[in-house]
Amino acid sequence: MIKFVYQNKPEGTGHAVLQCKKYLKGTHFLMLLADDLIVKKNCSKEMISLHRKTKGSVIATRKVERRTVSRWGILGFKNKTKNSFLINEVIEKPKLSEAPSNYAIIGRYILPRKILSVLKMQGRGKGGEIHITDAIKTLVKKDEKFYGNIFKGKYIDCGTLDGFIKSGLTISKYL
Ligand code: G1P
Repeated sequence: MIKFVYQNKPEGTGHAVLQCKKYLKGTHFLMLLADDLIVKKNCSKEMISLHRKTKGSVIATRKVERRTVSRWGILGFKNKTKNSFLINEVIEKPKLSEAPSNYAIIGRYILPRKILSVLKMQGRGKGGEIHITDAIKTLVKKDEKFYGNIFKGKYIDCGTLDGFIKSGLTISKYL
């Protein structure tokens, strides 16, 4: 069963989540950004197993080229292993000089339901939008546990015009 909610204006990822409030049950929920495709390995499954192991929130991540950091949400971290780390900093689209690493947020998140009350109180951030990244930052500062899941699948970025055009060709090879 798919239920749709609407944003009449582009007001950001956090605003979108607020529109879903009445459908979110339980302590955590999975959020997927539709313009980030991950194929070959099921990223959500990997994230659910990290969530079950740690009981914390989880964000999909991978290294991006340093010169592109200002296009992504960027993570700072500690306790890194091969496939995951504990997040201690989150910045939406930082300048290269402000980026804590070059591990980017890719659009898969397991978030705590309590993020809704943070979003409700939150002002507008970059570009006048209500960003989920800013609410995550607030929770990380309050010592809420967030883990980066360095996923194994193949990432296809459809968030740029070039990426969107190339993604059709890449996907056709997997069908
Ligand atoms: C969104 C998020 C950003 C994330 C990116 C992944 O940005 O705000 O933190 O790194 O998706 O694609 P957008 O691409 O919508 O500008």
